[in-house]
Amino acid sequence: MVAERGDGTPTLGDIRTRISGQLSATAESGIALLAVSRRAEGDFIGYCGLIVGRATIDEPEIAYELYQRVHGHGLATEAAGVVVRAAAATGRRRLWATVRSWNVASLRVLDKLGFERDHVAVDDRGELVWLTRGLA
Ligand SMILES: CC(C)(COP(=O)(O)OP(=O)(O)OC[C@H]1O[C@@H](n2cnc3c(N)ncnc32)[C@H](O)[C@@H]1OP(=O)(O)O)[C@@H](O)C(=O)NCCC(=O)NCCS
Repeated sequence: MVAERGDGTPTLGDIRTRISGQLSATAESGIALLAVSRRAEGDFIGYCGLIVGRATIDEPEIAYELYQRVHGHGLATEAAGVVVRAAAATGRRRLWATVRSWNVASLRVLDKLGFERDHVAVDDRGELVWLTRGLA
């Protein structure tokens, strides 16, 4: 999946480092990226969940990524909708998302879930759109 991002193919070592970093972040924060699988096929198709990311543990970021072969069937929206409801059930009042301005598919997923644009920041990789959604 990481190789599909178009930044080259990572080595097995790179992937192990990345996964162990994600697992330590989960152990530290208590929030996680969860595996997404299709009910009928039972296959792993990506991840969706909450991360501290650029935000905070109380108002974390939603994050998701799916294999290209399953894009365009509403699956990210379905998975992210479940995560939004689960986040509300923890008593959290707000979620954030940060998305590159060119990422129309991700912005559309967030729009369908009721996120609204808060502001746009600029870093060395270009424009980053901050979106937010109240959970109350
Ligand atoms: C973002 C991502 C998870 C969306 O997954 P998905 O399962 O295809 O999303 P959904 O099918 O639920 O919704 C996608 C929406 O974007 C729309 N869309 C997709 N590409 C589009 C484009 N180039 N222009 C306009 N709309 C587009 C789809 O039509 C759909 O909207 P609709 O339901 O109104 O038709 C997927 O593209 C992905 O994994 N991208 C790489 C990782 C990534 O960018 N993650 C987010 C980082 S912030």
